[in-house]
Amino acid sequence: MEHTVIIFGASGDLTKRKLIPALYELFGKGRLPHNARIVGFSRTSFSHDAWRQLLGEQVAKFSGSQFSTQLWEEFAARVFYYRGDVLNPDDVRGLGSFLKELEEDRPHARMYYLSLSPEFYEPTILHLGAAGMATENDAPRRLVIEKPFGRDLGSARCLNETVHEVFKERQIYRIDHYLGKETVSNLLVLRFANTIFEPLWNRRYVDHVQITAAEDLPVGHRAVFYESAGILRDMFQNHLLQLLTLTAMEPPSRVNADDIRDEKVKVLRAVRQLTSEDVAVQTVRGQYRRYRDEPNVPPGSETATFGIAKLYVDNWRWQGVPFYLRSGKAMSCRTTQIVIQFREPPHMMFEEGPRRIHEANRLVLQIQPAEGIQIHFQTKVPDAGMKMRLTDLDFNFREKFAGEMPEAYERLLLDVMMGDPSLFSRADEVELAWTIIDPIQKAWDGGGLPQLELYEAGGWGPPYAEEWMRRQGRAWFNVCPVLA
Ligand code: BG6
Repeated sequence: MEHTVIIFGASGDLTKRKLIPALYELFGKGRLPHNARIVGFSRTSFSHDAWRQLLGEQVAKFSGSQFSTQLWEEFAARVFYYRGDVLNPDDVRGLGSFLKELEEDRPHARMYYLSLSPEFYEPTILHLGAAGMATENDAPRRLVIEKPFGRDLGSARCLNETVHEVFKERQIYRIDHYLGKETVSNLLVLRFANTIFEPLWNRRYVDHVQITAAEDLPVGHRAVFYESAGILRDMFQNHLLQLLTLTAMEPPSRVNADDIRDEKVKVLRAVRQLTSEDVAVQTVRGQYRRYRDEPNVPPGSETATFGIAKLYVDNWRWQGVPFYLRSGKAMSCRTTQIVIQFREPPHMMFEEGPRRIHEANRLVLQIQPAEGIQIHFQTKVPDAGMKMRLTDLDFNFREKFAGEMPEAYERLLLDVMMGDPSLFSRADEVELAWTIIDPIQKAWDGGGLPQLELYEAGGWGPPYAEEWMRRQGRAWFNVCPVLA
């Protein structure tokens, strides 16, 4: 079937940085459905050609692969622009007529992509509904919603209710771009297509799990958005909790959207909610020193740019195993990694053997940017008595599978076009994620404990975070990945 992709918020950053480059890449790989067309919608005035020209310049800048002018021109011929305001129902209706004309009255599957500021989600959805543009008479109508999906449980529920007034759940694709990363999908393959890991993947063998998403970049020009979000809403409610669910979930009996999401939802339900007393001892919040000097940050801002949450998954498999979630801006490097830290051997017969948890076996899943997997284990140092050293087996995706790793948005956009929602959050999933984050956010906003720790840019967050971990007899895996 022919496809039309409609991007609301076409003049925004996401469109030129991610969406159009991803669609262009898919086109270059011959993966865009036959005769697919892309229509941008926003308030700025552009002719089709002016918009194509602007996008071409941006794609040349952001595109992962070599930019080809000839390929771009072929692609750009499928790109159109319609000027309008999502707050004006007549403009949305006008878009509807434009689409019909473009589609020459043939059935086309449509993807409505909301790349808008969240306050525009609800009016846009309602106007799409009122214009009859959500009704599936002869072809699918799919709605893609970017994060943040609400800013707490209450607002997420309201948004879900509004969306459900117009679209059925199966038409809705709530995006979390982490789920489009190849290494994140590989988590399920590693766990459930191999026999050697799964028997160890539980409380008997695992001491704790560390899930870190560190970024070296500061908040910079995004301060207006960031002030209303902070690290919990920006990274924990979505990306980090998604990584936690995939690490902790039970194997689904089949690989289909609902079976996978049912298992993820079970994990979220099992996560113990924190009381304000728990928040004081099980979380750490920090802010890099120069954050308050960023443009648009108010002088006494208490917005956290770094956070840690120690969570427990109360079920048979994970009882008593802490999951440490950590994320921060302005850290020493960009790395997202999941560390499965195994227990010490039950009995150490070698005098020099590991005595500390961080000397025990460890499995490191490098999500990005050095996509790979390492197994850390003790080996005998040759010709040194029974001296031992922690060494590793190292697997690197790029080395093994020559070529670039595709951008997350390529996979996700294609999945929407194919009608596969496996890698998108379901309504109950986002709401449950908020039930975990809300109590932490509330306690942090209250300004009580834990106090806001300042940290220097370029390190691993506040020194207190190290001390906090040490007191629990554990240590952070603070290693920047080696990029080949
Ligand atoms: C976004 C956050 O969702 O994810 C950003 O809003 C963050 O603040 C980004 O920088 C990180 O994504 P990635 O793919 O670069 O890890």
